[in-house]
Amino acid sequence: MGKIRVLSDTVANKIAAGEVVERPASVVKELIENSLDAGATELRIDVESGGRRLIRIADNGCGMLRDDALLAFERHATSKLSDVRDLLSIATLGFRGEALPSIASVSRLVLETRSADESTGAAVEINGGKLLRCDEFPGAPGTTVTVRDLFFNVPARKKFLRSDQTELAHIASLATHYSLAHPQKSVQLRHGANELLDVTPVETLRERVYQVFGNQVLDELIDLDMVERELDVVEAEERASRVFAVRGFVSAPQVQKLNRNSIFLFVNGRLIRDRLLLHALSSAYHNLMPSGCYPFALLFLDCDCEEVDVNVHPSKTEVRFRHGSFVHDFVRDAIREKLIAARPASSLPVPTQPQPAADLPFSDFTQRIENQRFEPVPDLMAEPERPEDLPVFTMRPSVAPESRFDFSKEATQAEIPVPHVPETHGPLPSGSEPPQNLSALSDLRPLGQIHDSFIIAAGRDGLWIIDQHVAHERILFERVLRQQAEGRVERQQLLMPILLELSAAQQIEYASIADELDRAGFDSEPFGQRTVAVKAAPAGVGPADIENLVFEILEIAESELRKVSLDDLRRAMAASIACRAAIKINMRLDHAKMEWLLTQLAATDCPMSCPHGRPIALRYSTRDILKSFHRI
Ligand SMILES: Nc1ncnc2c1ncn2[C@@H]1O[C@H](COP(=O)(O)OP(=O)(O)OP(=O)(O)O)[C@@H](O)[C@H]1O
Ligand SMILES: [Mg+2]
Repeated sequence: MGKIRVLSDTVANKIAAGEVVERPASVVKELIENSLDAGATELRIDVESGGRRLIRIADNGCGMLRDDALLAFERHATSKLSDVRDLLSIATLGFRGEALPSIASVSRLVLETRSADESTGAAVEINGGKLLRCDEFPGAPGTTVTVRDLFFNVPARKKFLRSDQTELAHIASLATHYSLAHPQKSVQLRHGANELLDVTPVETLRERVYQVFGNQVLDELIDLDMVERELDVVEAEERASRVFAVRGFVSAPQVQKLNRNSIFLFVNGRLIRDRLLLHALSSAYHNLMPSGCYPFALLFLDCDCEEVDVNVHPSKTEVRFRHGSFVHDFVRDAIREKLIAARPASSLPVPTQPQPAADLPFSDFTQRIENQRFEPVPDLMAEPERPEDLPVFTMRPSVAPESRFDFSKEATQAEIPVPHVPETHGPLPSGSEPPQNLSALSDLRPLGQIHDSFIIAAGRDGLWIIDQHVAHERILFERVLRQQAEGRVERQQLLMPILLELSAAQQIEYASIADELDRAGFDSEPFGQRTVAVKAAPAGVGPADIENLVFEILEIAESELRKVSLDDLRRAMAASIACRAAIKINMRLDHAKMEWLLTQLAATDCPMSCPHGRPIALRYSTRDILKSFHRI
């Protein structure tokens, strides 16, 4: 007798639940998505004990016909697909027909639903996958799903759950981000008696960001507006045009996070994690932010359903693009152009080091905002599991710029900032101070230097401090890049060639980038067995620096060539040259030099950060000065 048996539905559902339902937040995600697919405009989410004891989502969507209410718990039962061709253009968030049966197999679930077309609805109760009852339901149209005792029958899964506050943070983050994706809907989230999120319908994403994060955070963000790009494709031998659109908010380069937890990507309204889009985002910040740091980003990419395959993973959190490299470059360029156009200035105080962030798949940002906003929330404020779970507001840590070289503990602890959080969720206030912009640099009046290193300048809108070394570095970096592209980097002939002895590995690197070295302004040639003679070098680099610079470039080539493009290699080389050629700190500058530096800096594409990602200019706004002197 054969050994193969077809699994019962109960077992199959539990297996599917293993993939679909990882933790309470996964249940919330599936139920929110169902409510959105049902056209709901009001979602109310109640949870208890971080979602372990109770998750309830009530919506005012289309509800289900009584016959459908039972069918919804059959495996692969869905109203969203009917044909295999539909799989190629999925417009709904759900399509697999397995979320409800999966959740019901690992919890005690009650579904109450009524379609507006019927006078009564249905109430279905299922316990660990077993149907207990199916009664009439007299309530209002819409659907309420109540999930109790998640994983009561899967002890192994239960053990993997983290503390209530961590599970709740995941849920809060998820609800917050779906609320951002749907400004026109009202979303409420309650944990026991605590209201964690309560947003009423608004017109724009901007207003919703304000409702959720407050004005101060909104000031730190750059609105991408809506950027569109068309792609011509040939479909069944016919030409067609596909439109891609990206919108949302990204942070100024000075907001630096140590992990990707503050990046939210939505593709056609679906919250996803995607390496291609993450890479596009990092590329947009290349040379604006130190490597290993990440921005805050809320990105919505919309395109034809045919352009994206969502049927990649059971939890529907990954996608595959049909024209991946087009999407990558489009998103990178759209963000980069906005960053350059916005030229955001760092206000004083500014973060000097990226801040550690909690290990959450969604937003540490949200969690922190929540903590600030709903203080005291006993559950969230309870003993954290690990030090990283401690709420820390990271958008504006108050550390004086001088302390960059001496990052003392007191500096961080002494000045914990209090973010402005709106008391109510009223309309976005108009006439608030416009975000600082670095276009003002050229109008500044230099007053002098501190420590012969930082230029102090007065402007119409406040006091500015400019780091002279990184400012000059940015000016030179962009100049070298431009000259590289045009193949005419300014070079200086050396009186005596400099001889460099290379290791075997360095000789190989040298051979592979000899042309690039030439392009970057070095005249060099092999000189005997292991030696290279450098006869000319990029202008501005002192003779004492040339040897180190060449070795640094060989090292970059070794690490960069393996994994990144020629473009990245050129940028890295330009950054090294700029760093060596730039005026140093501890150098006295006369008035004319300071003026020259500010004017040149104002004319760069990205005056906000040096090519290694450090901030260049800080502004102490007149308003902040007045506030500090208690004049307003
Ligand atoms: N809140 C709701 N309002 C109205 N109908 C719903 C609601 N939730 C579920 N349904 C109905 O139940 C069906 C099954 O839901 P389920 O989440 O299991 O599958 P799905 O959403 O179709 O696909 P997926 O498994 O990808 O989520 C849905 O297709 C939909 O018709
Ligand atoms: Mg679903």
